[in-house]
Amino acid sequence: MTHDIALVPGDGIGPEVMADAIPLVERVAAAHGVDLAFTEYDWGSERYLETGAMAPEGFLGMLADHDAILLGAVGHPEVPDHVSLHGLLLPIRKRFDQSVCRRPSILFDGVESPLRGYDGGDIDFVVYRENTEGEYADVGGREHVGHAHEVAVQSAVFTRRGTERVVRAAFEAAADREGRLTSVTKSNAQAHSMPFWDEIVREVGAEYPEVSVESLLVDAAAMDLVRRPDAFDVIVASNLFGDVLTDIGAEVTGSMGLAPSANVDPGGEHPSMFEPVHGSAPDIAGDGVANPLATVLSASMLLAHRGEAVGDADASAAGETLWGAVEDQLADSSAPRTPDLGGDAGTASVLADLRDRV
Ligand code: NAD
Ligand code: IPM
Ligand code: MN
Repeated sequence: MTHDIALVPGDGIGPEVMADAIPLVERVAAAHGVDLAFTEYDWGSERYLETGAMAPEGFLGMLADHDAILLGAVGHPEVPDHVSLHGLLLPIRKRFDQSVCRRPSILFDGVESPLRGYDGGDIDFVVYRENTEGEYADVGGREHVGHAHEVAVQSAVFTRRGTERVVRAAFEAAADREGRLTSVTKSNAQAHSMPFWDEIVREVGAEYPEVSVESLLVDAAAMDLVRRPDAFDVIVASNLFGDVLTDIGAEVTGSMGLAPSANVDPGGEHPSMFEPVHGSAPDIAGDGVANPLATVLSASMLLAHRGEAVGDADASAAGETLWGAVEDQLADSSAPRTPDLGGDAGTASVLADLRDRV
């Protein structure tokens, strides 16, 4: 089966990793009889610096007809983040109703956690992050700019639909996994949005009596992700809280360079987007040492998602092959590793080694 994929390598290490990762992904797909038809878009900060726009007008319409989107990273030291992210990444999540962001945190065999006493397999949880509203709602403004009484307002918006969508997805996942859900809020300080969130968790939870629900305040959740990361199964959190917690999740499971994500429209109406959790890493961009595995795992999630969405067992199998090759490489102490994992190998040699394992 053919899957029509929009490829947006973006900025920094995004294009660097994609250049070598895509041939591998295509090869694995082809070996399973899956045709991944990539259309590459050179949108990003370099384009902004040349033309004044991150992407052409109507770029969202250009993405709409693809089956899925694979994105590298967005962000550039010479372009303000509000320009780059609001000009490309965030509008994609919003326009395509990708309200559920799924971010697994797994301590793979052979990977060292910076925390003492955890071995491969000991940490394995998944964060469901609300992805289109909450603290990222574009509601607010600035008054009296530059004056002593200047005010900046950034409102958070929680809708019943958006909250229910992510909460339900998290309950579904918990029911399929170990049946434990942790809902993260800040109900002690935020008296409107968070009690509303808690209520929705109770309402939706009534449909999942087999799932046990724990409620944590976000500060305590941050602490517990370091203190007892092995105790979590599924975590559901708002946009900003989920963003912060997933960086902690990536780090306690070894590296930002290993953390994949899926931005999903649970309605299945629009293309979903797959991307590593990390950004453009300007501190190492151009050095050829970025860990490509977060991107490879994101591509694996894309294949699994397409497999499920259209009943293409070959796509699912290709996704499993990619995931398995990463597990196999990480478990092999003689395999090349990038510096974030304590090695001295480059992006290309990690991918070349992976190619021998698929
Ligand atoms: P970052 O994730 O880019 O980097 C944080 C740290 O992790 C850096 O030390 C970096 O070298 C390291 N790192 C990240 N990915 C790595 C990889 N694959 N291999 C090895 N090391 C890796 O976060 P930042 O520095 O806060 O942000 C840089 C830019 O990226 C900013 O413009 C930010 O807004 C943007 N950003 C974009 C996304 C995205 O596109 N989804 C995500 C996060 C940040
Ligand atoms: C992420 C990133 C983005 C987010 C930024 C770059 C807007 O940090 O995907 O985790 O906060 O969602
Ligand atoms: Mn983030």
